[in-house]
Amino acid sequence: MKFFIDTGEVSEIRQAHAMGLVDGVTTNPSLIAKSGRPYKEVVVEICDIVNGPISAEVLSTTYDEMMVEARVWHKLHPNVVVKLPLIPDGLRATRTCTNEGIRTNVTLCFSPTQALLAAKAGASYISPFIGRLDDCSETGMELIDKIVRIYKNYGYATEVLVASVRNPTHVVDAALIGAHVCTIPYSVMLQLAKHPLTDVGLKKFVEDAQKIPR
Ligand code: G3P
Repeated sequence: MKFFIDTGEVSEIRQAHAMGLVDGVTTNPSLIAKSGRPYKEVVVEICDIVNGPISAEVLSTTYDEMMVEARVWHKLHPNVVVKLPLIPDGLRATRTCTNEGIRTNVTLCFSPTQALLAAKAGASYISPFIGRLDDCSETGMELIDKIVRIYKNYGYATEVLVASVRNPTHVVDAALIGAHVCTIPYSVMLQLAKHPLTDVGLKKFVEDAQKIPR
């Protein structure tokens, strides 16, 4: 399973990248707003650090406006993947982008039918938001299971990009299901590395190292 980092903070990307954990990056308007920096400036900087797909989202919601933004993002860097919302205009923009050779990530997916439509539109990635489904007392991971099965049944090339990941269990379950990509906040990446027995074991090794004759 590929690991993308889900953030607008370049410092987090640098740290995760230094550990070899970053196959790609996803951003969205909320994450970039949190960074307090212009969207384009952040994406340019990310493209200098990571040689992989970098999702940059359109900020408009009509087909014509989305296509203007999509073409601008596409021209910025070959690694930029245009993120489009799962609404009818977004699907139309996805189809046009696909026809023009622009890679897309269709976002805000909450149902198998939406995922099917994104695949038919030729999306490179579909982003189901599992944490937000969990927030509504649904099981987000069941959606991942259904989409992976549907795509396999028909051989769709669209990759399932598990998004709105909130904890290590989400990552493990996504990998067990066979999702192509998990986009993970930096804080959760750090949680993935953590185990109390590792800390206890290392403390003992460090103590015992002092007893080794030199
Ligand atoms: O990748 C989508 C993600 O940024 C949304 O996460 O935690 O706001 O639902 P969250």
